[in-house]
Amino acid sequence: MDLQLCYNASQDTFPLPRHIKERYGPFGFPEPRDPHCPYISSNFVMGLDGRASFRELQGRAGGRVVSRSTEDRWLMDFLRAHHDGQLIGANTLREEPGPDARGADYGIDDEQLRVYRKETLGLNKQKIIVLTGSGNLDVTLRVFDSPRVEPWIFTTPEGERNLRSQLKMLGREGTINIISAGAGRWVDLAAAARLLRQEYGIRTLLCEGGPMLNGELLEKQLIDEEFRTISLQVLGESTKPGIDRPTTYGNVSYIPEMTPWFRLISIHYALPYHAFFRLRYEGPREFQD
Ligand SMILES: NC(=O)c1ccc[n+]([C@@H]2O[C@H](COP(=O)([O-])OP(=O)(O)OC[C@H]3O[C@@H](n4cnc5c(N)ncnc54)[C@H](OP(=O)(O)O)[C@@H]3O)[C@@H](O)[C@H]2O)c1
Repeated sequence: MDLQLCYNASQDTFPLPRHIKERYGPFGFPEPRDPHCPYISSNFVMGLDGRASFRELQGRAGGRVVSRSTEDRWLMDFLRAHHDGQLIGANTLREEPGPDARGADYGIDDEQLRVYRKETLGLNKQKIIVLTGSGNLDVTLRVFDSPRVEPWIFTTPEGERNLRSQLKMLGREGTINIISAGAGRWVDLAAAARLLRQEYGIRTLLCEGGPMLNGELLEKQLIDEEFRTISLQVLGESTKPGIDRPTTYGNVSYIPEMTPWFRLISIHYALPYHAFFRLRYEGPREFQD
């Protein structure tokens, strides 16, 4: 692995082991903008054209196919190690079944980072929170019974009914933490974030996909930071009409006065194909002209 540090203006609050700090530099988060909400980061890989998925190519939709980088995989574990919870949209689970059709468990593969999370940071098992309005999830996927992680589902009351009847049929009641909120088809993400912070003690939340969820979080000004791996390739347009290759921002749309800006916190790179940006949300900027 050959991660190189180019620039790093991070807070220095986490007690990184020396060899990791030498490679990465300091790491820390500022105080949250809203103490009643988790500090929310997102982590995605994208091509030079901003696209995040070869979505229409079955079995090749995942970020892994865009990334092709061991450094990116390590950084993903690095971020997982530092967050209380990970948030994932239901489509990401549906579209990334992996080679055995059971999907990933979103756990930390790197042994040193697993030990660091548990023993140095004193954090519990990774909480993987899957967001679904419909509740149409395959609860036999790996993430829902992996010994490495604690599965949660955040849904609507209708979604909860669907999921509980599915779990009952499988004789697996009580194996997944299900939280539901709101009344309609969609969960109110701002209310969900507050609930996760206040009722469930989630102080830091890492959104790992997909673009639709990330775009929604950005639109609602819930994103505090973005970790972006730029894979130096062009994905281009979809090869199938009707299925777009999404950018990492889903469906957001802004006029110039309202575009959210981000401040650069760090840049790492791995020669010759990857750059890793850490960015902090600032919001719209004002210009004289
Ligand atoms: N490059 C990368 O780093 C990366 C990372 C992750 C994913 N991806 C790719 O991105 C694609 C999937 O992304 P996507 O944008 O289509 O989907 P997504 O964000 O993963 O999931 C969208 C789904 O999440 C649920 N959801 C989102 N907001 C909600 C809300 N406010 N309330 C309730 N439920 C909500 C809904 O599930 P229900 O339909 O069940 O209601 C919705 O259909 C895949 O191709 C995946 O491989 C790439």
